[in-house]
Amino acid sequence: MDFLKHLNPGINTISSYEPGKSIADVVEKYDLDKIIKLSSNENSRGPSPKVLDLTHTYNNWHLYPDGDGKRLKSTISDLEEIEPDRIVLGNGSNEILDLVGQTFLSPESESIFSAHAFAVYKLVSQVRGCKYHEIPTKDWGHDLDAFLNHINEKTRVIFIANPNNPTGTYLSHNQIERFLNKVPSNIVVVIDLAYFEYVAADDYVRTNEITKNFSNVIITKSFSKIYGLSSMRVGYGFGSRDLIEILNRVRQPFNVNGLAQESAIAAIQDLDYLKESVKLNANGRESICQSLKAMNMDFIPSQGNFVCVETKIGGSNIFNALLKEGVIVRSLDLYAMPRHIRVTIGSEEENKFFIDKLDKVISS
Ligand SMILES: Cc1ncc(COP(=O)(O)O)c(C=O)c1O
Repeated sequence: MDFLKHLNPGINTISSYEPGKSIADVVEKYDLDKIIKLSSNENSRGPSPKVLDLTHTYNNWHLYPDGDGKRLKSTISDLEEIEPDRIVLGNGSNEILDLVGQTFLSPESESIFSAHAFAVYKLVSQVRGCKYHEIPTKDWGHDLDAFLNHINEKTRVIFIANPNNPTGTYLSHNQIERFLNKVPSNIVVVIDLAYFEYVAADDYVRTNEITKNFSNVIITKSFSKIYGLSSMRVGYGFGSRDLIEILNRVRQPFNVNGLAQESAIAAIQDLDYLKESVKLNANGRESICQSLKAMNMDFIPSQGNFVCVETKIGGSNIFNALLKEGVIVRSLDLYAMPRHIRVTIGSEEENKFFIDKLDKVISS
């Protein structure tokens, strides 16, 4: 395999991303009447019925999508109160993370992100062959002072997930703002708000103040979580005109398909559905946390649609035991958290099923 000698720097260090197990994987392995998937932080309600209506009305299958995503950007522009030319669309917000890597990272540069943070930051750094710093967490949250201590003349990109996946911890507006004031403006800071809508904290990030004051910041958001559109692959980033213009140059011309664009528009327009999802998630999270307390199990307080639960016998043992019971959660070895599992908040019935089965496996 002579071509393997010529891999780009960094490629050899990558292991391919391991997604949460699918229902099909479990059906294949175990003979079960019921299987629930609480492993990838999806919205188990699915998307708004207004999105599902598109299944009957969408008729542009044969045409290339709008490469500039004008209608979707205009809808996001109203939502975020930011001009359309300060928005870049992505094939999931992952693509925006990758675009930042493509644009700013190389074997000569460095990136910074937290330990136990979303796996894709490491992936986009490794793929560009750059040196990366994974900063140990403080109480499972990002230690921004330690981030500052790792900045040097080679630093090009800093990634911050807020709330963080998988820990569910969050940073306040003031913490982020104080940090950004200390970061040199030649470093791009990605503030990844994939779980933005779920956050109830009063002191959470005020995105328009950040994009107004810091031209080196890009905020990313996703339609895969609260909007229930994971399969559509659509997300976006917004920030200063100069930064967004560069990313729009780098992205592929038709990176977001037509049905995904229409679905995202319909999803944003159904505010009642979104509010109901927020409410159900908050209630479900509260009820799961109460049950965990009653079972004497520790967990990390979460602002997202998931909770990290500490196990006494190791996350992958509990993960495997739950699989056999028809519950798919996430084991966190990939995130260097071998004692934890992460469970997505599901419907009331799914949450109860999870708790019943967890109780069963820890008692056996
Ligand atoms: C923190 C964080 N950012 C980004 C993403 C990627 O989401 P998308 O489906 O929009 O690519 C995820 C997905 O799990 C995530 O947890």
